[in-house]
Amino acid sequence: MTDLRIRDAGPADIPALHRLIESAYRGEASRAGWTTEADLLEGQRTDPADLADILSDPDQAMLAAFAGEDLIGCILIADRGAGVGYFGMLSVQPTLQAGGLGRRLIEAAHAALRERFGARRVRISVLPQRETLIQWYQRLGYAPTGETLPFPYGEPRFGLPLRDDLSFIVMERALA
Ligand SMILES: CC(C)(COP(=O)(O)OP(=O)(O)OC[C@H]1O[C@@H](n2cnc3c(N)ncnc32)[C@H](O)[C@@H]1OP(=O)(O)O)[C@@H](O)C(=O)NCCC(=O)NCCS
Repeated sequence: MTDLRIRDAGPADIPALHRLIESAYRGEASRAGWTTEADLLEGQRTDPADLADILSDPDQAMLAAFAGEDLIGCILIADRGAGVGYFGMLSVQPTLQAGGLGRRLIEAAHAALRERFGARRVRISVLPQRETLIQWYQRLGYAPTGETLPFPYGEPRFGLPLRDDLSFIVMERALA
């Protein structure tokens, strides 16, 4: 991808970040991509207030990928302490997926987690129904830890589940 720039998102990026994340995760727009949560969840993935909280938290950051002026991808990074980092909200504009941007964002997240937070391991949480996504994370070096995390039922700011048996599996890899 030519003319690609990855930088920290700031408050002025919140409206575009919100549009991007919702379009990648939920609803009909997300089906243009190769993997989506649209069959598992409705409602929102995030909202501007949640994004503002992330951007103002010294233990978190949002890396944003731009093609020219257009925000086309993002990834949240977070320090979980004790050398453990986390990434989430990984989003690529659905019509631009499968072109390598997701992998580049994960590589940028790994570097930032190491440099900013001294992370030696990275953890992610994934819905186990998302088999092709899990296979991709495995190709990127992530393996299930055996832990699970409950889905936040009853908290619509995380979405409206379409089934009652959702929970996350935790995956982890070491950073070189
Ligand atoms: C997950 C996501 C960020 C990936 O972004 P992307 O730009 O498509 O990622 P890349 O192009 O770098 O890699 C895509 C991988 O999927 C593979 N892939 C592409 N189409 C696929 C398909 N139809 N089925 C299975 N795998 C496929 C590619 O071969 C590639 O694997 P490789 O890196 O081992 O070669 C993007 O799909 C997205 O925004 N999804 C919606 C939000 C989401 O689910 N985020 C993750 C939640 S934990």
